Amino acid sequence: MEIAVVTGTSTGIGFATSVHLARHGFRVFAGMRNLAKAEPLRAAATEASLPIEVIPLDVTSTPSVSRAFETVSEHGPVDVLVNNAGIGGATPLELTPEDEHRRMFETNYFGSIRCIRAVLPAGSSPPPIRSPTPLRSGRSSARARRSPTRCAASASAWSTSSPGWS
Ligand SMILES: NC(=O)c1ccc[n+]([C@@H]2O[C@H](COP(=O)([O-])OP(=O)(O)OC[C@H]3O[C@@H](n4cnc5c(N)ncnc54)[C@H](OP(=O)(O)O)[C@@H]3O)[C@@H](O)[C@H]2O)c1
Repeated sequence: MEIAVVTGTSTGIGFATSVHLARHGFRVFAGMRNLAKAEPLRAAATEASLPIEVIPLDVTSTPSVSRAFETVSEHGPVDVLVNNAGIGGATPLELTPEDEHRRMFETNYFGSIRCIRAVLPAGSSPPPIRSPTPLRSGRSSARARRSPTRCAASASAWSTSSPGWS
């Protein structure tokens, strides 16, 4: 059974994606930063006999990400990674405090990067055939058949050209 890891699964798109992938044949490891919120997803999994396991995963914490992917790797390689965990916001720039701004990048950008790095094979180029497919629901998606080489440069350059600026 192929393995999928979904981040940010307590609510919304992450919750729905976990259920959807499990219904379509994946063994799902559902990352949650606050396990006190795990009951609804666990109940949905139990009710439909779906192979979903909730694991602790805070994408802003490198130790948490490492522990989560170590746990998953005991069951096999990650076939699909859905980088869903994120913070939204539509506050005008002049009213957005810098710490909030940084928290978004720490979660939405660096959180995704941490998880992608956790599943990419270190130092191997090209990666093995069964390379994972990092996805960013709601924002963008990318199929990582090969590691990107201009990740930080491109992301930072585009960060002030995105639709939110128009
Ligand atoms: N819905 C939309 O229309 C829309 C549009 C554009 C982009 N998006 C993006 O798509 C994603 C899902 O959207 P949604 O509407 O389903 O949002 P949501 O209901 O707010 O869910 C966000 C999830 O991310 C989790 N999360 C936040 N910070 C985290 C962290 N540090 N580590 C791990 N998990 C964390 C939240 O956990 P907690 O419950 O613990 O807070 C929650 O489970 C988000 O990244 C969002 O920004 C959504």
